[in-house]
Amino acid sequence: MKVLVTGGTGHLGTVLVPGLQQQGHAVRVLARQPRGTPGVEWVAGDLARGEGVTEATAGVDAIIHAATDSPAAQRGGFRPRDFFTSPAGVDVDGTRALLAAAEESGQVEHFVHVSIVGLQHMKRLPYTRRKLEAEELVRGSSVPWSIVRATGFYWLMERMFARMAGQMFLALPADTRMAPVDSDEFAGFIVDCLDDGRRGEREDFVGPEVLALPELMREYLQSRGQERRIHRAPVPKRVQAALTAGNTSEEARRGTTTWKQWLERTARDATPEGA
Ligand SMILES: NC(=O)c1ccc[n+]([C@@H]2O[C@H](COP(=O)([O-])OP(=O)(O)OC[C@H]3O[C@@H](n4cnc5c(N)ncnc54)[C@H](OP(=O)(O)O)[C@@H]3O)[C@@H](O)[C@H]2O)c1
Repeated sequence: MKVLVTGGTGHLGTVLVPGLQQQGHAVRVLARQPRGTPGVEWVAGDLARGEGVTEATAGVDAIIHAATDSPAAQRGGFRPRDFFTSPAGVDVDGTRALLAAAEESGQVEHFVHVSIVGLQHMKRLPYTRRKLEAEELVRGSSVPWSIVRATGFYWLMERMFARMAGQMFLALPADTRMAPVDSDEFAGFIVDCLDDGRRGEREDFVGPEVLALPELMREYLQSRGQERRIHRAPVPKRVQAALTAGNTSEEARRGTTTWKQWLERTARDATPEGA
């Protein structure tokens, strides 16, 4: 199959692209800054500006839409404005434009939309609402679709924890439990979803363990050789329940790499040889 990937330069996308190639798919990536990866066809485009979408979708059999614009994820922490607004350009307008181009081409057999577990419990967050709007657009499309969802990725958890650990006072809600996941494993699941011929809402993809946030932080600190006291953040119970919901599903598909293993692996990868 010829597959268009959006977000092919992101954490998920950079593993997704070779995963698709290994299964024999021809891959085209729509990106703001095309790269020179061998065997990949690059199309310059910007989903927030609607640029390159028609060229990118022409002649493809499938689209995996993994691009997103989350300012909080990019900086590794929330600012007050993230609780009031979130950009719609990539996640909503970009999804709409991709679906319209796919409908127009008449050749796209499968639109695989990448989303997040538990969004329905966190509707107060503007980014969450953007992701839900995008899912609605996908469900309303005439192009055959799948929606694949994962819990929070380890890379994002590490980025957020690193930022928090750099602050004077370290506090986390004690009763929020999460099952973060290795995005490399999720990439493999997405390739399976493209290839297995099924369509529609897919199983949630979650990490192998459900751990409370302070436990996750303790493992992070230990792996990075830091010692800190973790205080209890006074977050309302209903907010903690909303953050936890979705992470504890029994039905979900589970990755196998634990947080601890991922932290050890990334610490090893970051160590210069011979050090
Ligand atoms: N991160 C998580 O914890 C998590 C958890 C579950 C599901 N997900 C979902 O998984 C997907 C991938 O997430 P990720 O963590 O891999 O994200 P990421 O690393 O932040 O990558 C985002 C991707 O979107 C691209 N992008 C941003 N703005 C764009 C624009 N205007 N036009 C075209 N492309 C644009 C980026 O390209 P540039 O290289 O040009 O910036 C990059 O390739 C998203 O749908 C996300 O919602 C994420």
